[in-house]
Amino acid sequence: MAKTRTTYVCDNCGAEYPKWVGKCSACGAWESIREFREAKVKGVAAAAPPSVRTLSQKNAAPLKRLATGERDFDQVTGGGLVPGSILLFGGEPGIGKSTLLLQLAGRLAAEHVDCLYFSGEESVEQLGMRAKRLGIHSERLAIANASAVEGIVTEIQERNPAVVVIDSIQTTYTEEGESLPGSLSQVRSSANRFLRLAKDRDVVIILVGHITKDGYLAGPKMLEHLVDTVLYLEGDRQHQVRLLRAVKNRFGATSELGVYEMTPIGLQPVANPSELYLDPQRAAVSGSVIVSDLEGNRTFFLEVQALVSNAAYGNPQRNVTGFDLRRLQMLLAVLERRVGFRMGTQDVFTNVVGGFKLDEPAADLGVAVAVVSSLKDRPVDPRTLVLGEVGLGGEVRGVQQIRRRLEEAAKLGFKQAVVPESDRKHLDGLDMRITPVRSVLEAVDTLF
Ligand code: TYD
Ligand code: MG
Repeated sequence: MAKTRTTYVCDNCGAEYPKWVGKCSACGAWESIREFREAKVKGVAAAAPPSVRTLSQKNAAPLKRLATGERDFDQVTGGGLVPGSILLFGGEPGIGKSTLLLQLAGRLAAEHVDCLYFSGEESVEQLGMRAKRLGIHSERLAIANASAVEGIVTEIQERNPAVVVIDSIQTTYTEEGESLPGSLSQVRSSANRFLRLAKDRDVVIILVGHITKDGYLAGPKMLEHLVDTVLYLEGDRQHQVRLLRAVKNRFGATSELGVYEMTPIGLQPVANPSELYLDPQRAAVSGSVIVSDLEGNRTFFLEVQALVSNAAYGNPQRNVTGFDLRRLQMLLAVLERRVGFRMGTQDVFTNVVGGFKLDEPAADLGVAVAVVSSLKDRPVDPRTLVLGEVGLGGEVRGVQQIRRRLEEAAKLGFKQAVVPESDRKHLDGLDMRITPVRSVLEAVDTLF
C-alpha cells in the first residue's frame, strides 16, 4: 500500500511540526514552515517478512571495503568505502569538497573501480579542466553535469558504477517534489531516493552538502541521521590546512582525523601534521603558548595566543576564536581569585592559531599561562609545552594520555613540559625537562 504522510517542516532548521505554525519555535524563524509530503513509495509489493536470524548464526562475510589508497581518507572512514553505503560529505563552500572527492574518485578509477561524478554546480568543461590539473585521466571515471534525480538514477542503473558522487545534494531535485532545489523537502526526497538506490545496487553514494560558517544548514543537518557516514571537511580558508573527520560512522570509529593541505595540485595529505603548527624559527612572543590536542590517536600541537590590554570603557571584553568563551571566563575568574591578578579591568582576546578549535580541558593551563604571559608581557620559551586541566580551586588536574603527547613533543624538539603533578608518575625517562605543578599559581611562579 502506498502511503503519504504530511508533516510541516522548518526550511531553516529542519524542525518538524504536526500542523502549520507561523513561527518555528526551534530556531525562531518566521514563515519558514513548509508542508512536506513524504514521497509515495511506488511499486512496493505486499510486505515480505523480514529475514531474521540470531546473532550466533553465522553472519555473511566481513564487510567488503573499497580502500582509496589515500591513507588519511581510508583511516577516517575506518578502512575505505563500504559498498551499499551512503555518505554525507559536508563542509563550507570553497573548502575543497569537490577537489578532494574528484581526487579520490580519480584514485579509485586508476585502480579499476568505476566511478561516476555528477555535478550540479560545475559544467563538464570545468570538471574536466580541474581533473586535468589534478592529473586525473582515467576511462573509469565519468563526469556529468546533472541535477535531476530521475536522470541521475537512470544513468547509475545503466552504467552500474561502484562509487557515485553527487555534488551537491542542494542542487539536486526530484520531479515529484514541488519545491525548489535546495529546499528541505527536495533535499530529503532526493537523499531518500539515493539511499534506496545505494542499498538496492550495492553502490557507494557520496552526497556533498554545503554547510555555512556556523556549521548550520537545514538540509545536510537533517540528513545526518539518514546516512551511514557523515564526514566533514573543515579548516580555515586563510590557512591552507584542511581537517577531515567523521562525525558519524556506522562502519568504524569517529576518532580519526585526516590532515590535508590545499596546494596548486589539489589537497595533499600532510605527513607530519605537528610540524605544520610549530615553526621552529618562531620568536618568543608574549601571550603565545603551545598546547597539545589529542584527536583520535594523533597528537597535534597548537599555538594559543592571548592579548590582554586595559579596558578602555566600563565592560571589559572577552573574545575567543577556537576556544570556549565560558571556559575562558572561568579561567579568568581563577586567575583573579586564586592567583591574584586583576582581570576585571582588562580586555582579553584569545586565539588558536591556524583556525583550529580546542575543546579539550587539557588546554586550560596553556590558555591561562598565555593570558598571564600577555598580561606581564613576558614570553614563554617556544620550546615549552603547557598541559593541564584547571579546576575552580586553581588546582591543575591530570591529562589523558600524557605520555604519548610528550613522547611526540620530545621527538619534535620540545625541551620542557609543564604538566600536572598527578601525572608525574607516567613521565619517567623522557628526553625533556618535566616541570610538574599542582596549581595555576605554581605554574605562573615557575614560568615567570
Ligand atoms: P572546491 O573543491 O571547489 O570547494 P568546494 O567544493 O568545497 O566548494 O575548492 C575550491 C578552492 O580550492 C578554490 O578556492 C580553489 C582551490 N583549489 C586549489 O587551491 N588547488 C586546486 O588544485 C584546486 C582544484 C582548487
Ligand atoms: Mg564544490
